[in-house]
Amino acid sequence: MIKIAPSILSADFSRLGEEIKEAEAAGADLLHIDVMDGHFVPNITIGPQVVSDIRRVSRLPLDVHLMIKNPLKFVDQFVKAGSDMITVHIETIRNSELKALSSKLKRKGLKLGISLNPATPLSRILPSLKMVDLVLVMTVVPGFGGQAFMPEAALKIKKIRKIFSGDISVDGGINDKTAGIAVNAGANILAAGSYIFGAKDKSLAIERIRNAGNSRD
Ligand code: DX5
Ligand code: ZN
Repeated sequence: MIKIAPSILSADFSRLGEEIKEAEAAGADLLHIDVMDGHFVPNITIGPQVVSDIRRVSRLPLDVHLMIKNPLKFVDQFVKAGSDMITVHIETIRNSELKALSSKLKRKGLKLGISLNPATPLSRILPSLKMVDLVLVMTVVPGFGGQAFMPEAALKIKKIRKIFSGDISVDGGINDKTAGIAVNAGANILAAGSYIFGAKDKSLAIERIRNAGNSRD
């Protein structure tokens, strides 16, 4: 089953609640929330307050993608805000720290994801695989929406799929053409920002990427 996670980074923040309700009505399975700190990535987005406000207006699981240095310092705030899944970057955390984080989130009923940048070799996440529920493969250099999908990520996804039975999410440049590449490689969650929030008809956009993913050529 392919899950679609609209990334609110590309929403109109002046009417975020409405945009989220539209995405939910259009068939979104999760809401992908990009948290950026201006240090790990060259952009600043939102913090726990916004996540908590989103929690009040949506029943969808909140898939929180932390693109921040020192994620451990902020995890509790994002848990309290109502996140369902928290993904941290392997570039920002040690494996020893990840173990403690994994037990903490499990106790609280949340899922833990590990993400890796396009330039980070797969070998970096191997020791973490047994501690996480999800691997988020970046298919662009993180920081901004609207960038082009990097097709070389497909090989990374294939290799992960061979050794990991949890969720594999892809993030960056997902549209009706690239979704199929990601799903054929083994991804089952598609995070997409500009393709969904830039569309006139969100239902159609979601249907198109879901089907692009389903049609395995
Ligand atoms: C990129 C973010 C992505 C981004 C995807 O740093 O992590 O989630 O919103 O946006 P699109 O789908 O427009 O590439
Ligand atoms: Zn993201």
